[in-house]
Amino acid sequence: MEYRKLGNTDLELSALTYGSFAIGGTMWGGTEKKEALDAILASLDQGVTTLDTAPFYGFGLSEELIGQAIKDRDRSKVQILTKFGMVWDGSNNGKGDFMWDQEHEGKSYPVYKYAAKANVIKEVDESLQRLGTDYIDLLQLHWPDSTTPIDETMEALQRLVEQGKIRAAGVSNFNKNQMLEAHQALPLASNQMPYSMLNRGIEKEVVPAAIENHIGIIAYSPLERGLLSGKYFKGEQLQSTDHRNSYFGRFDAEKVQAFLRKIEPIALEKDATLAQLVLKWTTLQPGITVVLAGARNAQQAISNAKAIDLSLSEGELGFIRRELTELF
Ligand SMILES: NC(=O)c1ccc[n+]([C@@H]2O[C@H](COP(=O)([O-])OP(=O)(O)OC[C@H]3O[C@@H](n4cnc5c(N)ncnc54)[C@H](OP(=O)(O)O)[C@@H]3O)[C@@H](O)[C@H]2O)c1
Repeated sequence: MEYRKLGNTDLELSALTYGSFAIGGTMWGGTEKKEALDAILASLDQGVTTLDTAPFYGFGLSEELIGQAIKDRDRSKVQILTKFGMVWDGSNNGKGDFMWDQEHEGKSYPVYKYAAKANVIKEVDESLQRLGTDYIDLLQLHWPDSTTPIDETMEALQRLVEQGKIRAAGVSNFNKNQMLEAHQALPLASNQMPYSMLNRGIEKEVVPAAIENHIGIIAYSPLERGLLSGKYFKGEQLQSTDHRNSYFGRFDAEKVQAFLRKIEPIALEKDATLAQLVLKWTTLQPGITVVLAGARNAQQAISNAKAIDLSLSEGELGFIRRELTELF
């Protein structure tokens, strides 16, 4: 595994970081807890030291699974990244920005982006409880909340750093201007953003501004939630409650398949899978500090961690970039 320093912090994260959205089950057509636990443990055994989660993932379940997985491990050798600011339990009394109604275990819950000071403090205490730890390595504001001044949220984060409950603070899903505004209030460790071969929007403004200001970029959904593994073009089926039934619709399936066919020989020649090629490519892009890869079971987790061992030549990187530019 390769380890990289996050922004201006003293955090060293594994370049391939484990993402635990899917193992929460909510939005992902359910989860198998034993397989999920095995996925986290297998990641740790492969040298993945960094685990990304959020209270929203499985409405607490993902954080609980991470807590279970690390309870017999050396806490100082694991970095836990979690988030706050997506509220579903009604404790915000309708305040914040409404996101959507989320189905969870047969019931519907209104979800809000909400980052008021009291909520930050409350959510962190709940996360610490679920994670079974007394500090969080990186706490991230999950989404911008237009109803709360960013200074108020950042003040709460500063307080948590002083109290030792969090080691560093970051944001997620912040555009360039939002990121720089937050960075003025409190130097940011990172901005967690969607980034993949098929979604390179952040290359234009967010990444250059992050590099200039020493803000780490944590890239999420690098496999486009499984699409770039190629398996969904080979007949693999989704559960009816899986959000990917609509999510995958944003991509032109024919173009994606044509692209995957072009790059697959590079993977095959290295005895690697398409998913591994895609992940390694993502870790090599400018300004990307670490790449979050979700895995539902140990097999996926091991394969994803091993992606770091691939080596890609300048020629291969150039070929992939040219194909992407031509097709999309
Ligand atoms: N900040 C945010 O707003 C935000 C949003 C989204 C994600 N994230 C973070 O980023 C992490 C990664 O993103 P993601 O989970 O959305 O998507 P992803 O990493 O692009 O894809 C993960 C999914 O792809 C499939 N997969 C993984 N490895 C595979 C392999 N080796 N071969 C075949 N299929 C494989 C698995 O689902 P199946 O087996 O079911 O296909 C897995 O759940 C999340 O877990 C979360 O920590 C953050």
